[in-house]
Amino acid sequence: KSKPPLVWHWIPIFGSAAAYGQDPIKFFLDCRDKYGNVFSFILLGRRVTVALGPDGNNFIMGGKHTVMSAEDAYTHLTTPVFGKDVVYDCPNELLMEQKKFVKYGLRNDNFRAYVGMIEDEVLQFMNKDSSFRAYQMNDINEWGSFDVLHAISEITILTASRTLQGKEVRDALDKTYAQVYADLDGGFTPLHWLFPHLPLPSYRKRDAAHKKMSQFYIDIIQKRRESGNQSEVDMIAALMDQKYRNGKILQDHEIAHIMIALLMAGQHTSSATGSWILLHLADKPEVAEALYQEQVKHFRQPDGSWRSMQYEEIRELPVLDCVIRETLRMHPPIHSIMRKARSDVPVPRTLAAPSEDGTYVVPQGDILLSSAAVSQVDPLLWRNSFEWDPTRWNDPEGVAQQAYKQYDDANGQKVDFGFGLVSKGTESPYQPFGAGRHRCIGEQFAYLQLSTVLATLIRRVELRLDHPVPGPNYQTMIILPKTPRNILYRRREF
Ligand code: HEM
Repeated sequence: KSKPPLVWHWIPIFGSAAAYGQDPIKFFLDCRDKYGNVFSFILLGRRVTVALGPDGNNFIMGGKHTVMSAEDAYTHLTTPVFGKDVVYDCPNELLMEQKKFVKYGLRNDNFRAYVGMIEDEVLQFMNKDSSFRAYQMNDINEWGSFDVLHAISEITILTASRTLQGKEVRDALDKTYAQVYADLDGGFTPLHWLFPHLPLPSYRKRDAAHKKMSQFYIDIIQKRRESGNQSEVDMIAALMDQKYRNGKILQDHEIAHIMIALLMAGQHTSSATGSWILLHLADKPEVAEALYQEQVKHFRQPDGSWRSMQYEEIRELPVLDCVIRETLRMHPPIHSIMRKARSDVPVPRTLAAPSEDGTYVVPQGDILLSSAAVSQVDPLLWRNSFEWDPTRWNDPEGVAQQAYKQYDDANGQKVDFGFGLVSKGTESPYQPFGAGRHRCIGEQFAYLQLSTVLATLIRRVELRLDHPVPGPNYQTMIILPKTPRNILYRRREF
């Protein structure tokens, strides 16, 4: 039994931190060339074992939660931000129940009400924000420019608070909430994962912001309870009065902490994705035009006005769907999914092995790292893998034949990925929302939010880019576009 090969490094404790931090995708692909699909590297004193490819994804994402623990890998980052007794600060079985409660809030009945609210927020933003002045002037010959990350981050928090987070949060956004959120967010970075407690301002601000934010939600819950207000269609309403299987009700602080967790889970993931989508659309006006024409075909009324999309109609729009899917393929917001080995974990021989009759064993205490961000752009798996091409998803021959090359698994057998596998199983190369037990439950909401924001914008403005699509910045928790990220726009005729 031997440990997986260790990536060679110069500085003992620092290890490969620089290469991994700069560009994890390149680092992983380079390591794969040298060491194969499974290897370990040192990251500031920690040993991290990476498993790549669909089999590697399956090994980690499909691993037993009692052996590969998400809470052990994440809690020191998340608990100071989210708070006690939820998500990774409780036994995994409770997280599974909490996800079920949240799913109840993310039901179609609520989603139907959200489309109009999101549209309304986007229009208000376009009619108010100074970067949309050229649009507000009503002149179709006037080009303006907006910083896409700024605009989409604002729109994301406005729309998420108007819908999921609820009226009180939306109202507070214009006041103190924004600063508290910013301080909390400043404590949710790779640095805080590496070092959970340092005597630095960002840590103090994080802890103070957590207290304020938690109390803010608790106050909302108590006021609603006192006033008997049960008419809201938001997540707070869905979580109030929920009971664990053991009969214990979900307490106010638990609801508050789940709300913070949802805020953090949805904000950067959606705003990064929305920003990448708009950058690529501005870079490829022919795709933006196809998206616009799809909207015209389905929603333009004879008098030239726009009809709102119905929730059920959104998934029936192939151009919109392919644009989102393809952007999540090239730019999944999360590049490293982590677990911690609670005991020694044998690596399946089909994935990697030191010799004909040997096996690798990942030692207890290692971080296990899965990266769909690698398998989603792997040239071994995808045609023109680094090219943003939404049409790959809309191939009449089927994704399995056209979008992928066939893939030789470790046994040399040919593997075809059918459409179902592409979006679901733990062995899929495509998993922007993760897979298995810890899979994202926000996918439908994110699709709804992104689709509505995108449709509302594209109906009203043309987009152009006067520079190449910027590269990814890996130094943040979520992969964001580097600068320049300004997009040129011009108001459409109607
Ligand atoms: C989990 C991605 C939006 C809530 C995950 C995971 C990924 C992911 C990759 C798996 C993490 C892991 O296995 O360690 C995304 C992307 C989003 C998005 C790409 C948007 C484009 C959202 C939204 C919400 C949300 C809007 C809430 C409304 C969650 C929750 C989990 C999760 C509760 C479960 C964590 C667990 O079980 O450990 N997400 N997410 N996500 N996400 Fe999302």
